[in-house]
Amino acid sequence: MHNAKPSGDIVFPELTEDVVGRIAATADARVGKVMETLIRHLHAFVREASLSHEEWRNAIEFLTRTGKMCSESRQEFILLSDILGVSMLVDAVSNSAGTGLTDSTVLGPFYSGRQRELEDGDTILLREEDGPPLIVEGTVASRNGAPIRNALVEVWQTAPNQLYDVQDDAQPEGHLRASFRTDERGNFSFKSGLPVSYPIPDDGPAGQLLQMMGRHPFRPAHVHFMISASGHRTLVTHLFLCGDAYLESDAVFGVKPSLIVTPEERDGSQRIVYHFGLEPLD
Ligand SMILES: [Fe+2]
Repeated sequence: MHNAKPSGDIVFPELTEDVVGRIAATADARVGKVMETLIRHLHAFVREASLSHEEWRNAIEFLTRTGKMCSESRQEFILLSDILGVSMLVDAVSNSAGTGLTDSTVLGPFYSGRQRELEDGDTILLREEDGPPLIVEGTVASRNGAPIRNALVEVWQTAPNQLYDVQDDAQPEGHLRASFRTDERGNFSFKSGLPVSYPIPDDGPAGQLLQMMGRHPFRPAHVHFMISASGHRTLVTHLFLCGDAYLESDAVFGVKPSLIVTPEERDGSQRIVYHFGLEPLD
């Protein structure tokens, strides 16, 4: 009769202690710690929300549909994590920030793994696109400002039709994504087109959840960066364009003020110059 307790009391506390208590002493210490925390918070959530059988069944069906939506080119669980702010929170507890370090943000579901490596100054376009041309000039340095040579700079972004190549059969594979290496001074540059704001894929469970919460699915225009260099923590970040209508309401909570840039026009192109600071390991 655990559910007959007067309000204010914790419902069935001994169940939580029983579940936590059965984590074996032989379990890996980190597994034990993470699972105890998860169980305690999950039980507290059920108590606080007073979940009904029907709601819990709906939740399980929702997660089942989320899993079934996943494929080689669609990662619905990342979307779910992103729209609930979990991806940004994991990032916040895992990365340090501070002087000399570039803020990180979400990886997102559209990183497609190893991509073609281009020479400095090359274009990441595999076909012509409408819209203003973009030039990105970056420097990669360690926290103390020392340039990092031979850093791997991976970039990816949407086409003007609001889609990444992996979402759009009409785009050549690898369009608007590529990798570069920094030179002796830590510099790299590439040509592209100005990115646009776009809705995250909202035709699945994550989109339905957004709709139920009365939220829009849009992300402000951005270019993704993943920068890896020996002896440094890999930096996963974006650069966002100043003035975008969705900077204040990014569907995945990824915007940080230090990552908003204002392109300058030069010779008919928009130009972004940015300094990336990486955290040394140790
Ligand atoms: Fe993106």
